[in-house]
Amino acid sequence: MRTAYCGQLNLSHVGLEVTLCGWISKYRNLGGLIFIDLRDREGHIQVYFDVSDNKKMRISATTLKQEFCIQLIGMVRARPKNQINSNISTGAIEIVAKTFTILNTSEPLPLDINHNNIEENRLKYRYLDLRRPVMLHRMKTRSRIISIVHRFMELEGFLNVETPILTKVTPEGSRNYIVPSRLHIGKNYALPQSPQIFKQLLMVAGFDRYYQITKCFRDEDLRSDRQPEFTQIDIEASFMSAQKVRELMEIFIRIIWREILNVELGTFPQLTYSEVIQRFGSDTPDLRNPIEMIDISYLFKSGQNRLSFIRTNNIDIQVVVMKVTNGSTLTKRQIDEYVYYAKKCGLRELMWIKVRYNNGSLKKESNESVLDFLNNSVLDLILEKTNTKNGDILFFGFSEDQNKSITQILSPLRSKLGHDLCLIKKDSWAPLWIIDFPMFKKNSYGELVSMHHIFTSPKNCDIYTLQKDPLLVTSEAYDMVVNGCEIGSGSVRIHSFDVQQAVFNILGITRNEQQEKFGHLMNALKYGAPPHAGLAFGLDRLAMLLTGVKSIREVIAFPKTTAAIDLMVNAPD
Ligand code: AMO
Repeated sequence: MRTAYCGQLNLSHVGLEVTLCGWISKYRNLGGLIFIDLRDREGHIQVYFDVSDNKKMRISATTLKQEFCIQLIGMVRARPKNQINSNISTGAIEIVAKTFTILNTSEPLPLDINHNNIEENRLKYRYLDLRRPVMLHRMKTRSRIISIVHRFMELEGFLNVETPILTKVTPEGSRNYIVPSRLHIGKNYALPQSPQIFKQLLMVAGFDRYYQITKCFRDEDLRSDRQPEFTQIDIEASFMSAQKVRELMEIFIRIIWREILNVELGTFPQLTYSEVIQRFGSDTPDLRNPIEMIDISYLFKSGQNRLSFIRTNNIDIQVVVMKVTNGSTLTKRQIDEYVYYAKKCGLRELMWIKVRYNNGSLKKESNESVLDFLNNSVLDLILEKTNTKNGDILFFGFSEDQNKSITQILSPLRSKLGHDLCLIKKDSWAPLWIIDFPMFKKNSYGELVSMHHIFTSPKNCDIYTLQKDPLLVTSEAYDMVVNGCEIGSGSVRIHSFDVQQAVFNILGITRNEQQEKFGHLMNALKYGAPPHAGLAFGLDRLAMLLTGVKSIREVIAFPKTTAAIDLMVNAPD
């Protein structure tokens, strides 16, 4: 029906007759002249109807309305110099309409295609929201990422294998979506939270390198970077060390950034879990934010530096200091807001001191109580340790909560300060690997649970040590984080039956449950299972970062709300 896309025409097409198909995004009737902007997937172009002495054309052209779908035949011509629109790719040309056919009319739209609308409306009329060029651009970027994935994986010898969607409960830490079986009354399938076990079985099968772009389903609390169904780029390889997997995946991510954004990411730093928790209070730190935390609890353990405002023994208190360079310009009111915010996050106390030097001597401005405990020698020590300069501000956080690291409590304040004070450079990238996660942690009931997942291998540790002191064992898990967003996560897997059984035992999974839930994997481990490792990237999160949006809903064609509702089809119903 067409000979060209509107958005692909340019000066080289001048003089050609073209047939275009698209939607009317703008309509202007100036009496003898009618102009429309015709839009298709590749962009839009101005169309000119000379109706001054063409009555038939005038009558039919005046019936056109916004968002009508038309087929149009016309001649490409250069616009006069003074009418060139350099804001659009087709701004140097226009189409002189010869004839057109209305393929379909349109009622007035329930949302404005040229502007932002409220999200509820956008999701309800998603097919119209997706007409917006910005949405089209996001979906095109997503499509480009997918084609890079296929190209890279094929080049590296990964086989693309599909795994079942109707399956059994999978242990990724969330609740499963359940599908009742018609043939087996009372029994259910579960939708996979990830293809984890299947990809391990493919390694046992000898497939060596596997990948798949696949849907995963998790019934969990949603946020801007979480959807109940989302897409993973799932990867597994045999006979590959953790370091080798990370190297290969880093190359892959570098290629994506280069091809989509023309950005060179360089080599990713690898930080251990304990280091990121200490320095940033988070295992998804945004390294663009220069603020770091320094533990100074030890300074207050002795009787000398007693903290008068703490009722309990000083020994239990955690104290960290956070320096904000040039933060002395903060007003008392701004600081009070941060104090309030930190307390809301669970901090016992936030204190501060502005550091200003006057003729070489330190002029302190602070909340009063801070001076109660910061005698000069302690302060000098802290200034030296934090490399504090004239004009900086120091925040001191105190917490008596022994169950949570104080840096984790302070982490939201670190982010808030970074954003509020514009310390985070826009359009910059800070990727990193987090390695050496603990194998286990305690949940809120005091039970041991896996930090990554239950198939993750311990690092350099025999079964005896694993069983004796599980909380001290490090795992072979790794996460890739970019600008504070976890885009991928993986590990070396357990490939020994005995180690897998030991891990299940530690987690309190009974022998019966082990067979019932994971018998297929446990049995497979007995038949020459190779050492293997892998990871999965969140495709939606990658697309979110690469298109500069704040929510993965912006890069999913038909997403659900944060209440897991599809407003367009009205599901669930
Ligand atoms: P994990 O559960 O960490 O690991 O998931 C891997 C990556 O998937 C993305 N992701 C999500 N994206 C959108 N919405 C969600 N609800 C959601 N949950 C996770 C994240 C995350 O880093 N089987 C393991 C991987 C492995 O070990 O190979 C797994 O699924 O980007």
